[in-house]
Amino acid sequence: MEKQELRTFGRRHGKKLSARQTMLIDRVLPTISPTNLPANTGKILEIGFGSGEHLREIARQMPAKIVIGAEPFINGVASLLSAITDDNGAIRDEYKNIRIFADDVRDFLRQTDSQFEQIWILHPDPWPKARHEKRRLLNADFLRTLANRLSTDGEIIIGTDHWEYYDWILSQLQIAKLKFETPNMNTVHTRYQQKNMANTASPKYIIVHGDCL
Ligand SMILES: C[S@@+](CC[C@H](N)C(=O)[O-])C[C@H]1O[C@@H](n2cnc3c(N)ncnc32)[C@H](O)[C@@H]1O
Repeated sequence: MEKQELRTFGRRHGKKLSARQTMLIDRVLPTISPTNLPANTGKILEIGFGSGEHLREIARQMPAKIVIGAEPFINGVASLLSAITDDNGAIRDEYKNIRIFADDVRDFLRQTDSQFEQIWILHPDPWPKARHEKRRLLNADFLRTLANRLSTDGEIIIGTDHWEYYDWILSQLQIAKLKFETPNMNTVHTRYQQKNMANTASPKYIIVHGDCL
């Protein structure tokens, strides 16, 4: 029997959804699922978008690309849907390029053969307790899977303010034999970054390229 994948995320549900959020999940979410993606349009993937602050920013910056977000936390998905729709539940013009997969990104990747110009992962869950380390998403195997899904010159951009996870990701990249750099850069302040759980100054970033070390 195939080994079951460990969950890499915490709760799927938080506080009760409002009537508008429930309507958006039931009626709007199915209309923007990332199925039948056109082969000849550039694609960007954000994994674990939380409430979608960064996803919205890149969707606005790159209107010609399809911006796909994967997030199993339903309240986060509902927050993003609220922010990208008008009072009637119609998607606002500047967000028409957004597609949402409201579940584990590993399931999404299994059901598409799309390649991505950029794959963003901001503040992945650090699973700080040693006994939970196996739940960390950015292990060598998954990083290799992501690198194989990059289009030519594509890159994976990772940001975290959890220094121990940061070092662990670097060690996993070495195990995976992937080329990377650690530039100084900035991104929009996501909700998680604003909460600054790790109490650190600003996130550190890692950019991974598709080729091997
Ligand atoms: C610490 S939060 C950061 C959220 C957001 N990026 C931010 O900076 O505010 C990590 C997010 O990753 C999501 N996540 C964890 N495992 C995931 C997976 N396998 N697929 C997609 N999202 C995942 C969680 O649900 C959670 O919302």
